[in-house]
Amino acid sequence: MKAHDLRHDSATGHVTGRSVYVNDMEAGPGQLVARVVYSKHAHARITDIDFREAAGVPGVAAIITAKDIPGKNQMGPVVHDEPCLAEGEVSFAGQAVVLIASETEEAALEAERLIRIEYIPLDAVLTLRDAIAKNNLIAPPRYIRSGDAASAIEKAPLKLEGMLETGAQEHWYLETQSALAVPGEGREMTICASSQNPSETQAIVAEVLGIPRNEVDVEVRRMGGAFGGKETQANHVAAWAALLANATGRPVKIHLFRDDDQIMTGKRHRFLSKYRTGFDEEGRILAYEVELNSDAGAATDLSLAILERAMFHAENAYYIPDISITGRAYRTNLPSNTAFRGFGGPQGMAVIENAVDRIARLLKKDAASIRKLNFYGIDERNQAPYGELILNNRLHVIYKRLLLSSKYEERRAEIDIFNGRHRWKKRGLALTPVKFGISFTTAFLNQAGALVNIYKDGTIQVNHGGTEMGQGLQTKILGIAAAEFGVSARHIKVSATNTSKVPNTSATAASSGSDLNGMAVKNAIDTLKARLKPVACAELLKAGAKDPYHDGIVFAEDAVFATDEPEIRISFPELVMAAYLAQVSLSATGFYKTPGIHYNRETGRGNPFYYYAYGMAVSEVEVDVLTGMYRLLRSDILHDVGDSLNEAIDIGQIQGGFIQGVGWCTTEEIKWDDNGRLLSHSPDTYKIPTVSDIPEVFNVELLRDHPNEGTIRKSKAVGEPPFMLAFSVWLAIKDAISATGGHRFEPHFSLPATAEVVLLSIEEISNRIKNRNEMNQSTFNKEEGNP
Ligand code: MTE
Ligand code: HPA
Ligand code: MOS
Repeated sequence: MKAHDLRHDSATGHVTGRSVYVNDMEAGPGQLVARVVYSKHAHARITDIDFREAAGVPGVAAIITAKDIPGKNQMGPVVHDEPCLAEGEVSFAGQAVVLIASETEEAALEAERLIRIEYIPLDAVLTLRDAIAKNNLIAPPRYIRSGDAASAIEKAPLKLEGMLETGAQEHWYLETQSALAVPGEGREMTICASSQNPSETQAIVAEVLGIPRNEVDVEVRRMGGAFGGKETQANHVAAWAALLANATGRPVKIHLFRDDDQIMTGKRHRFLSKYRTGFDEEGRILAYEVELNSDAGAATDLSLAILERAMFHAENAYYIPDISITGRAYRTNLPSNTAFRGFGGPQGMAVIENAVDRIARLLKKDAASIRKLNFYGIDERNQAPYGELILNNRLHVIYKRLLLSSKYEERRAEIDIFNGRHRWKKRGLALTPVKFGISFTTAFLNQAGALVNIYKDGTIQVNHGGTEMGQGLQTKILGIAAAEFGVSARHIKVSATNTSKVPNTSATAASSGSDLNGMAVKNAIDTLKARLKPVACAELLKAGAKDPYHDGIVFAEDAVFATDEPEIRISFPELVMAAYLAQVSLSATGFYKTPGIHYNRETGRGNPFYYYAYGMAVSEVEVDVLTGMYRLLRSDILHDVGDSLNEAIDIGQIQGGFIQGVGWCTTEEIKWDDNGRLLSHSPDTYKIPTVSDIPEVFNVELLRDHPNEGTIRKSKAVGEPPFMLAFSVWLAIKDAISATGGHRFEPHFSLPATAEVVLLSIEEISNRIKNRNEMNQSTFNKEEGNP
């Protein structure tokens, strides 16, 4: 089996139920279960906490509050504005106040019922609109500007302005937030975590316990999905479990109930964005001004990095000479919003994609052709608003190939005929591109470490800082190690991620898990191979080779040999044993940092990305005019992953990312009541995609013959970019709505385009037809916002 078609390491484990998750781990008979008691108020002063009666429930081992925290009461990952347990005040419904550890879940639930927390409710900010009205900024605004957008819009022959709201999104990882804390000797604490960022989990556990980091080991075997939701917020359960383990001296496990997880944890940031654009009669965009406003929730978390990535993707795939991008994050009394696949990119891109769609409708042109007209150029029109040059642009080749393979033009004509013949069913079609910057936008995070051990029997253990969340990182790393060592994968084990093996790692995030850790592993393997080569030369001489020399040694087919004498070989285990006897170290660390990236937040200029990932999708939907329901008939995707590290995994990432994006764009709607309590907190009130939401025809292809120079095995990151291809579905729905008015009216639209949004939008168009309202032809074509 070739390295790049290795099966996902958990493929059999997952379907047989043998893959181990935190909730499957047991630390012995003394292990306790934990329960987190959280606030029911969005904003309130705590006047009293009484748990005397609860403490008497048989089986309860400990009940603790903020005042029992031995270290700092903090778990804010970047800004320390997030108490581990509420102290004096709660700032969102779902905030942890009291922790219970007990022998059984029943005892914990009984104790919870008996705990009395007295609150005095305070005024709460529960909507982004309210936060904006109150100017409740969480940090000063940020800007990226190039040219003079305002005057270019003034001078432009045609203009548009509008507003777009995009919704929150629940991660819905199948494994809810979990942690097992096991106290050791003295102050030692071991955490089995389900965290994308074991080093940060280690840091926060150490901080709340008031102990140094070298006393805390965090191990992550795998997560049952994360999607950004465990980049920072997995630290919370780990800190709570550690506090209870420390208080009781016994192992403590937390595994949140689904509803509690949904209520307590942050989501994708909802955005409210305003824009103006100027363009010419051809549809060429001359200028764009956008204000991106996000709902950070009650604490900073990663909101500023997410806002920044939204700003970096505000122009998506389009070259816009005069552009002004403003980003603002607002504090509300809701759970702190956090990383979610795309990390702000989707929110930034939705605005420009909707604007381009409006331009096409206004000019009565096909939207795909307007997109193409505005794509970044190859040798000109290729500078991003922040100054980075867009090199190795793959937009044009993908567009050309996808237009053909999806039969875009023929289907466009067929759809027009279909829509002419059907009154109560309308079809829509849309093509949308994605250009996604690869690298952590916080430049120093672009580093990774590895530790590779070779044992005397010739087997290899690979450790690195990345974590497995279903994305197939460990399988890709296995493939990389097998290819670099030239040994078959069955002799290599990629171990669980552990902070004591590889320290000070960055989160597995920003889609760079394989880019960064793959290179660090290669670096360690290069070191080991350099040490093994002299041994190989000596052994090959002994075996009769004439003149083996270092640079001529090849590691392949579970053996080493000289290039010019491939028939004389030493098996890899023999080589390893010879090296051991020659007292050569068989263990090496590796390190990698991405070269040449930097960004200055003050000036809004720099080269934040090492490269870009590109993709494009064409989607077709059918909307039921009477109900607003729709079906996804077909999606065609062509996506660029450079030279794929593992084709099956990459295709799976593209399919999964796309469908997750379709959920955000269509059915996933998060609602709170007037008191800031989550209404959509279970699978029956929150609709994620299921098999029936997958397109009836689904063609996913990788862009062939486009290696990415300068990365591990010329590959590209794939985890997040395909998420944003779901705009093709969102805008196909809009195209179908638009067809109900003969494409003469701009539909009212927002994201998600739920059946309700669609139905109201159709109704609004039919009212406009009834009133014989002509399209508004004033200088600005106003869109009144959402229905
Ligand atoms: N795929 C699966 N199956 N489960 C996940 O949780 N997370 C996504 C993506 N694909 C995720 C996933 C997110 S948000 C990121 S940033 C990347 O995987 C992280 O992994 P990578 O850097 O190794 O691609
Ligand atoms: N993506 C994900 N996580 C991050 C990033 C990013 O770009 N920057 C800082 N943390
Ligand atoms: Mo992914 S949102 O960068 O964890």
